[in-house]
Amino acid sequence: MALLELKGITKRFPGVLANDHIGLSVEAGEVHALLGENGAGKTTLMKILFGIYKMDSGEILLKGRPVSIRSPRHALELGIGMVQQHFTLVPSFSAVENVMLGLKDLGVVPKIQEVRKKLLRLSKMYGLEIDPDEKVWKMTVGEKQRLEILKLLYSGAEVLILDEPTAVLTPQETRALFEAIRQMKERGAAVIFISHKLNEVMEIADRVTVLRRGKVVGTVKKEETSTRLLATMMVGREVVFQFDKMNGDAGEVILKVEGLKVRGDKGYLTVKSLDLEVREGEILGVAGVAGNGQKELAEAIYGLRDVDEGRIIFDGHDITKWSIPRRIKAGIAYIPQDRKEVAVAPNLSVGENLVMKDCCNGELGKMALDRRKIRMTVKKMIEDFSIKASSPDLRSRYLSGGNLQKVILARELSRTPKLVIAEHPTRGLDVGAMEYVYSKLLEQKAQGAAVLLLAGDLDEIFTVSDRVAVIYDGRIVGYAEPKESELERIGLLMAGVTDVQESA
Ligand SMILES: Nc1ncnc2c1ncn2[C@@H]1O[C@H](COP(=O)(O)OP(=O)(O)OP(=O)(O)O)[C@@H](O)[C@H]1O
Ligand SMILES: [Mg+2]
Repeated sequence: MALLELKGITKRFPGVLANDHIGLSVEAGEVHALLGENGAGKTTLMKILFGIYKMDSGEILLKGRPVSIRSPRHALELGIGMVQQHFTLVPSFSAVENVMLGLKDLGVVPKIQEVRKKLLRLSKMYGLEIDPDEKVWKMTVGEKQRLEILKLLYSGAEVLILDEPTAVLTPQETRALFEAIRQMKERGAAVIFISHKLNEVMEIADRVTVLRRGKVVGTVKKEETSTRLLATMMVGREVVFQFDKMNGDAGEVILKVEGLKVRGDKGYLTVKSLDLEVREGEILGVAGVAGNGQKELAEAIYGLRDVDEGRIIFDGHDITKWSIPRRIKAGIAYIPQDRKEVAVAPNLSVGENLVMKDCCNGELGKMALDRRKIRMTVKKMIEDFSIKASSPDLRSRYLSGGNLQKVILARELSRTPKLVIAEHPTRGLDVGAMEYVYSKLLEQKAQGAAVLLLAGDLDEIFTVSDRVAVIYDGRIVGYAEPKESELERIGLLMAGVTDVQESA
């Protein structure tokens, strides 16, 4: 008997059938991956299982017994837990306090010392390292995620749902998470794992269920499939990751960063005397473990963060003190990593978010905004970037994670920027969309734009970059070519080992 069985789950939102008679069974001791294009309905299905959404019809059986899950609290009582794409911790509380809070919701009021002890024991048992007394606001995303998982383990969850857990992790953290998942499996838990990274799915999953447009395409055993087959199942065609980088001649230096010093959120210098140059028609990939100053560097160039010392020269002008609108006008596009907080206005419509940067430059009407022109522009962007939205008037907050990312890409890349700063531009995108973004970045480059690509994923950097700069502790510590043979040296540089041999 399956530990969990979903039958005929159906959920409709205005204008979209998000889940269409979905059937899924999950065994104890199994890692079951859920795969599918952006907007296929994965998160919706999991939110139903966790009691956040109510299904229109269908049935959920837990250990053979029908259950009706009323709320997340009820789901937890039944032993079903979920770590969502966006975390739900209280920032001003410590790790232990957050665990206590969760228990209080479940009607248990234990002593803090006991909770602390058990939390530490679980942390050790699963290799999920955290400091129980650290306040959540001080934690990295990886730490917050480990805490979310520990909270579920603490409450005794037998079914753990992880919605794109690795999208925000460094490769090392991903490895640790996989170790923990293996532990959960051994102890008889079932893990439902959502990811767009096919090699991860092949590594950790026992079975894979693929969704497309709200329907199940099929469930396959890991041994009987491959990344290639999974990609084809997902998008309904073969996905080839072969790009012509067109190694043309890079032109003039368009961006020059000199001796830049920038402070992070906690007030310390995180960019420490950094120098960098990017040329027209060039993609410079900046490789580094998250938290080494990438974010602050990108924000300083775009104007979101003040510069302590140093200069930013763009297209021959010293823009260090320029306002953001002036930088946008001069041709700087920015794809930030924090799409929910920085990149979109969640309560504005998809259409409004798409054109918000163009509404004041005369492109969309001289005196007043030309509604018809806006509608046409929006329609074209939605088509070009295949954004799945039931309507251009849908509030952006209701888009699936990947489609929200596509809105940002469409807005930034549909204009003709001279410089594109892209932070993790394909995070959360399905393989088809990823392929598309790479081709878009290469197209920008072919048109003469400079691209500064900041990513933790070396595959991503290697696929499109002309040169690789490695950032560590707020400085560029070395350059490399995006070649297989340089992988090890880049890895060492990323880890702060700077006395490595320069390869020929
Ligand atoms: N609260 C909501 N209101 C309206 N539509 C919604 C809501 N939640 C989800 N949708 C829609 O349901 C569909 C499925 O979305 P869902 O978030 O389940 O996709 P997903 O498979 O998780 O995609 P991704 O890989 O991008 O995260 C999308 O078309 C989305 O816009
Ligand atoms: Mg999702």
